[in-house]
Amino acid sequence: MANFDVLIVGGGVIGLSLARRLHVRGAGSIAIVERGKPGHEASFAAAGMLAPNAENEAVDDFYRLCDESRLMFPELAGELKDETGIDIELDRSGTLYAAFTEEDSIHLDSRFARQQEAGIQLERLSAAETLQAEPRISENVRESLYFPNDWQVENRKLLSALEAYARLNGIKIIDETRADTLILESSRVIGITAGGRRILGGTTVLATGAWTSLIKIGDASVPFAVKPIRGQMISFAMPRRFFERVIYSPRGYLVPRADGRILAGATVEDLGFDDSTTMEAVGQLRTSAAEIAPLLSAAEVAENWAGLRPYAGDGLPVIGPVPGYDGLFAATAHYRNGILLAPITAKIVAEEIVSGTGSEYPRLFGPERLIRGSTKTASL
Ligand code: GLY
Repeated sequence: MANFDVLIVGGGVIGLSLARRLHVRGAGSIAIVERGKPGHEASFAAAGMLAPNAENEAVDDFYRLCDESRLMFPELAGELKDETGIDIELDRSGTLYAAFTEEDSIHLDSRFARQQEAGIQLERLSAAETLQAEPRISENVRESLYFPNDWQVENRKLLSALEAYARLNGIKIIDETRADTLILESSRVIGITAGGRRILGGTTVLATGAWTSLIKIGDASVPFAVKPIRGQMISFAMPRRFFERVIYSPRGYLVPRADGRILAGATVEDLGFDDSTTMEAVGQLRTSAAEIAPLLSAAEVAENWAGLRPYAGDGLPVIGPVPGYDGLFAATAHYRNGILLAPITAKIVAEEIVSGTGSEYPRLFGPERLIRGSTKTASL
């Protein structure tokens, strides 16, 4: 039986980021319990886009959460480099959102008007300006929006850096260990059972992503539902960097990495815990990639993979204390924004645990909205 001040269930980007933040804040002994190897599920499958402007049209509380987290990356990248020697390849070249059809142009028009009015930094580029900025984009491009404040990070390097930080700083990683049940003493969660083993924690955090609803609390279920949504991706291995910026279209996105790889994503599939890949998805992703850059139609697919995004009914994350239980927090359901939201999630939950006071975010994004059933269901 092991005993820790904070027990984090789940070793994805959220669990690893929270462990680091708690350590920085002097939270005492910290353990991460991970069902497989840390950082090998949705966080590994992600594309690493830090793109609140291209990925949201509304400027609302969720947008603000995303943007605040994005702004934490420059400091995080510098600190992780100093702490672990690992460069997470934060790339601030920006993102282009391109139109290829008349319908895309109508969509771009309304986005431009709304986002400009909301004060988002963006530029509207003509077809010629788009081609000048990115000569490998299809000549069918009609126009684009340029978001200078949408960045990217090499998510697999971010995960390596966070895991290295944990190992260098005495954060215990208990891997290949599947948490089954949270142990209750009256209404207080005092730890977990995992394969017959008891691991105790003063505070327990569910950073369990798509697997959150499989955990029991005593005899009960976690009082909100999170389900897996599969995302399939492919990559091409080009000899050198192919685009300067991340490129979106309404049908897909291309993420150019420093080493020449291009990641193309992604499907959105509601199929339970099936994380296999399909040739149909590879075909679809190739088609949307070739629409953006016809040169890619001749390129071989170097890798294809899938991950399970964690989705609560409204598509928003679940961050904050779990009502009805003492000593239990949720940091899950980040859906399409796990990498982007990792720093702010870690900050919010660490402050709640260490000082008992935090930001307004747990009120906005805590589990209550799902438990009350007052949430509206967002389409996938
Ligand atoms: N954030 C990109 C995706 O979920 O596909």
